[in-house]
Amino acid sequence: MSRDPSSEAAEAASLQVTPAGPHPTPRPAPPKVVVRPRPEPGRTPRRAPAPEAAAEIKIRTEALSVWYGSMPAIKDVTISFERNRITALIGPSGCGKSTFLRALNRMNEVIPGTRTKGRVFLDGKDIYAPGVDPVEVRRRVGMVFQRPNPFPFSIFDNVAYGPRRHGVTSTSELYAIVERSLKEAALWDEVSDRLRSPALNLSGGQQQRLCIARALAVRPEVLLMDEPASALDPVATGRIEDLMNELKKNYTIIIVTHNMQQAGRVSDRTGFFLHGELVEYGPTEEMFTRPKDPRTEAYITGRFG
Ligand SMILES: Nc1ncnc2c1ncn2[C@@H]1O[C@H](COP(=O)(O)OP(=O)(O)OP(=O)(O)O)[C@@H](O)[C@H]1O
Ligand SMILES: [Mg+2]
Repeated sequence: MSRDPSSEAAEAASLQVTPAGPHPTPRPAPPKVVVRPRPEPGRTPRRAPAPEAAAEIKIRTEALSVWYGSMPAIKDVTISFERNRITALIGPSGCGKSTFLRALNRMNEVIPGTRTKGRVFLDGKDIYAPGVDPVEVRRRVGMVFQRPNPFPFSIFDNVAYGPRRHGVTSTSELYAIVERSLKEAALWDEVSDRLRSPALNLSGGQQQRLCIARALAVRPEVLLMDEPASALDPVATGRIEDLMNELKKNYTIIIVTHNMQQAGRVSDRTGFFLHGELVEYGPTEEMFTRPKDPRTEAYITGRFG
């Protein structure tokens, strides 16, 4: 599966590096699956969501719209994401999931021709307000992409990259950050004896956990994950899902996935997008067992794509 070039540009912006050249953009086909989410044996079952009143909102959008030139990609999306929860965003290819995700940390701005209207509140403050530094927004709202993409540096230098860009120079401080981040990303035990070896020698699943460690190294508060396991085998996917369950203790996670089983396994809430609009949003269990909108039901049962 090819990467979305706009994701690539945005990602480069998040890390302040020059993006590679354009890539073709075949879009992945939507899944045709019938799903009733059930925890798998040995997997941690999802906790039931707390009552709405008790939930604390970490990030929310108000009438958010994004255009590419004159083409609207997301329209008037109002949604709230709870702190320390995993929210899954699902919907057919091209419905605007990645565009929406990038709007949450101002990464669309680095794609020429995009226009954004509406508001995104992080801890109650609008990240699009005048004077807000997009680099700081992207530090607080980190992003992990579909394909693992370590830089051609050592494992250490990959994780230290962001902190160095943000001004950390002391070797002992960098080492502490690298160790903490790799431990948080459940990779430390596998690489602690070879931090100076090339990141590109790691397996695909390890590379994706390295990219998660790289995102965590700058201490974000929200983690956006755009199909983070779609390039991985089931075992590596399981590790990423287990890791997400650990990470939600400290982070607010929003994941885009085409994998309905994955949405069912990992998320507390699910939002269904169609043609740039948020059709339905609610507790995952409810969405998958008693969807309110017939379009949601048609999608999750594979009756359209
Ligand atoms: N850089 C861009 N320039 C112009 N149009 C774009 C660009 N990126 C995305 N689009 C268009 O915006 C719409 C939403 O695209 P987006 O990538 O957000 O969808 P998606 O739901 O993430 O799809 P997929 O599931 O295939 O990743 C699509 O019609 C797409 O063609
Ligand atoms: Mg996408």
